[in-house]
Amino acid sequence: MARIVIVGTGIAGLIAAYRASAEHDVVLVTKADLGESNTKYAQGGIAAALFPDDSPRAHAADTVRAGDGLCDAAMVDILCTEGPGRVRDLIALGVEFDRVNGELERGHEAAHSARRVIHAGGDATGLAIETALVAAVRYLALEVHENTFMRDLVIDDSDVDQIGDRRRVCGIEVVHGDGGSRVIDADIVILASGGAGQLYTHTTNPLVATGDGTAAALRAGVELADLEFYQFHPTALAVPGTPLVSEAVRGEGAVLLDEAGHRFMMDVHPDGELAPRDVVARGIAAAMARQGGRPVLLDATTLGREFLEQRFPGIDRSCAAHGFDWATTPIPVTPAAHYWMGGIRTDAHGRTSLPGLFAVGEVACTGVHGANRLASNSLLESLVFAWRATDVLGDPWSTPGRRDVTVIEPTSGTQPVERGQLQQLMWDLVGIERTADGLGAAAAQLARWTVPGESIHDLETRNLLDLARFVVFAALRREESRGAHSRTDFPEMSEDFASSFDCAGAVNVRQKAEALQ
Ligand code: SIN
Repeated sequence: MARIVIVGTGIAGLIAAYRASAEHDVVLVTKADLGESNTKYAQGGIAAALFPDDSPRAHAADTVRAGDGLCDAAMVDILCTEGPGRVRDLIALGVEFDRVNGELERGHEAAHSARRVIHAGGDATGLAIETALVAAVRYLALEVHENTFMRDLVIDDSDVDQIGDRRRVCGIEVVHGDGGSRVIDADIVILASGGAGQLYTHTTNPLVATGDGTAAALRAGVELADLEFYQFHPTALAVPGTPLVSEAVRGEGAVLLDEAGHRFMMDVHPDGELAPRDVVARGIAAAMARQGGRPVLLDATTLGREFLEQRFPGIDRSCAAHGFDWATTPIPVTPAAHYWMGGIRTDAHGRTSLPGLFAVGEVACTGVHGANRLASNSLLESLVFAWRATDVLGDPWSTPGRRDVTVIEPTSGTQPVERGQLQQLMWDLVGIERTADGLGAAAAQLARWTVPGESIHDLETRNLLDLARFVVFAALRREESRGAHSRTDFPEMSEDFASSFDCAGAVNVRQKAEALQ
């Protein structure tokens, strides 16, 4: 029996905790309360080939097409083949997906060739999953630490493991709201700490999405990959907080209009509003630029009030709370940072380059999403790969095959920065469209900045700053446009960049070399 510390309580962390607790001692750590995570806000649903007119092969083909040449085909195959069984497991765990006449109700989202997105509570899929899994985990009476922030991974340099690497993770350092800190020891750490939408001014992510796991991993010299690929959701309500307006709304027939009432997406792509997400996000950004930056309109009025209230009750409430009646009037929408395809490089069981450290969910980069995630594949990825991680927790460590890793020397500036300034810089210069000049200016500014202070807010902002520097580095290096990474100075896709790039933090690699002497 090993002591497993899991950081993060979205679908990936909760599934890992539920499964690992059958054989191991599990400690669950979250910086908020147990139910708070990106998962909770997922609307559209979870994609899986569950129906007779669909197949894992068709799902895999759609996933690879959306990923724009960068998906790892073997990982996609695992995702789409094991996905249906895992979704049935989720149902057995108590998640009640919406049904019609007893059959699972199916939604449609962009770039899917079949209706294969199942949902719960209309547009409250994430909440339904989170609620069921929190209940399952509470029933197991695991050791749970809420309001406990992971500052860093703790590394043991003296261990000798199977491959002769003397470094392995042996715990996490945590900070509590009162400023006290301590170490939680672990045989294995599973990072399930989610994405970093708070890198950007406009995001659909909650405040907790500050990339803490990815930042801790980069400081520990763990391999990261595909950091330049940040997905912008095309349609968030253009109000403070930019709440998500699910792609499923367009899947049901809502259309995008500019201020003049023109359905501009039909000029951009034959699939119009249901083109891949990156295409729609850029189409909207261009339309907004043509009208002085003002939001475009999502017209769902043809769907009817009764349908909108029943199928999308959460969005309906959100619209009403901001004074919009979307049953009669098109609503203003804008793209917003939504999902990070990049993250900590893992193998097919969530193992990272650091012995003892797993990563699952959005914090991980398994390669299934490539350059652009297919809608509603993220809950599925978390479920499938968190499940697989728990199958190998007791096995001897085997490190994923090494790729070429670029080592980056992290910079450290002297000019204090507030989180909002950092977010605005990222939005303006490292957002939906990028250029070498803008990225260079961002790199220079980021190098000057520092985050003083030791509050949890400061530690989160420092994580965002560390990550921003790596994102800019990766975006500068990729001199092409592919998926969510759009360079207006290199508008074409290039064969020279038809692969994933890994990087790691230099300071820690040096520490590793010293530890090995
Ligand atoms: C949405 O409901 O549009 C979000 C689904 C996703 O990001 O996968």
